[in-house]
Amino acid sequence: MSVKNGLVQLSNLTSMEALTQEEVMGLIKRASAFKAGTAVFELEKQTFASNLFFENSTRTHHSFHIAERKLGLDVLEFDAQASSISKGETLYDTILTLDALGVEICVIRSGVEHYYEELVNSENIHCAIVNGGDGSGQHPSQCLLDLMTIYEEFGKFEGLNIAISGDLTHSRVAKSNMMMLKKLGAKLYFTGPAAWYSEEFDQYGRYANIDRILPELDVHMLLRVQHERHDSSESFSKAVYHSQFGLTQDRAAALKPTAIIMHPAPVNRDVEIADALVECPQSRIVQQMSNGVYTRMAILEAIIAGKKA
Ligand code: CP
Repeated sequence: MSVKNGLVQLSNLTSMEALTQEEVMGLIKRASAFKAGTAVFELEKQTFASNLFFENSTRTHHSFHIAERKLGLDVLEFDAQASSISKGETLYDTILTLDALGVEICVIRSGVEHYYEELVNSENIHCAIVNGGDGSGQHPSQCLLDLMTIYEEFGKFEGLNIAISGDLTHSRVAKSNMMMLKKLGAKLYFTGPAAWYSEEFDQYGRYANIDRILPELDVHMLLRVQHERHDSSESFSKAVYHSQFGLTQDRAAALKPTAIIMHPAPVNRDVEIADALVECPQSRIVQQMSNGVYTRMAILEAIIAGKKA
């Protein structure tokens, strides 16, 4: 991985930990250039990409597909139910097969944390792996689109007060964002139920009561409550969660007028955030979704550049 003439070159994108600040800023600037209308480079040869989503997705899956098409890639959508995965073929053997067929980029979402390690460490798999989310592990493309959205607003990260709020334990978005935001100089707070906070977050920021820090925040980043990853015996009341930890209209009124509200979506309206706030003037939730296409174009372009290097 490197940056040459301002353009990032990547072999794979599996975790934010693997990216330098220079690479992150290079990807954000390239995504912003695509948003501003910069033309894409013409591909030197036919290049196949495949999207393998083993967990449901709307934003990540479709924005990668659109980004691939905008870059001129040939896209193979992978339907796990209709594939030999349903006959017991492993992910490793599936990627080995797609690689042998000529696929050069595989975008993968899996419920299995670190699924990518055996793929990128294999001597026999040469296609690039782009992580579209691994369980509660990492979600690097979401992190990069979040960073792009924050940078568009403030033009910096250094010194910003950012709260990451909610289902911290189960959130790959929190894991990717906390590490990179801290590296970029932001001051982080974590809020939400104490049961969803653990010592692993201490090195990145401070656990706080949301009502005490709201007036200081530049960014209030809400996380989806991930019921699918919870123990089914855990009791949960949407109304109680909303009143104790959610962004209610009263809490939003305590934010600075310049503060922005973010959420990776899908949103549980009236749980993490009041229904009326999802599309309010301070919300950047829809902008995050749009930025996802440009960010994923920048990621894929960097992967293609990495293959040529
Ligand atoms: N934010 C996000 O990853 O959304 P999807 O699950 O719809 O891709």
